Amino acid sequence: MLIAIGSDHTGVYYKSLIISFLTKIGCKIKDFGFSEHGKAVDYPDFIHPTAEFVNEGKADFGIIICGTGNGAAMIANKYKKIRAALVWNKEVAFLARKHNDANIISLPARFLDKNEILEITETFLITNFEGGRHKIRISKIPIQNYPQ
Ligand code: RB5
Repeated sequence: MLIAIGSDHTGVYYKSLIISFLTKIGCKIKDFGFSEHGKAVDYPDFIHPTAEFVNEGKADFGIIICGTGNGAAMIANKYKKIRAALVWNKEVAFLARKHNDANIISLPARFLDKNEILEITETFLITNFEGGRHKIRISKIPIQNYPQ
């Protein structure tokens, strides 16, 4: 499984933690930065390339990180094939896959601890989309598909 990951300065530590965890469980990683400590950057510069990579089908899933998770999710959801979910615990991660077939999770670095970050990441990657009624619902997300 190939995972694309990108963050701004708020996610530097968690991004490296996630990369170590994913590498250990056999995933391949495409790291779009940011990776320096002690310097502030603009989150769009790192989230756009990550989302674009997933949108083009070059990665199975994406993980994006900023302070609140909101700016990163807003960017990723501009891409046609992206369903990015703002996720703050493992139950939300589970439902983001199960019901929304999310292909990117957006993590709020300023509001999560190390254990929560790893629990969320693992849950996101091991949970399958339920399909059925949720397939109909996600088909209505694109604005051009609604009203039908
Ligand atoms: C950076 O301070 C912060 O604005 C950014 O990480 C993010 O929370 C934006 O949505």
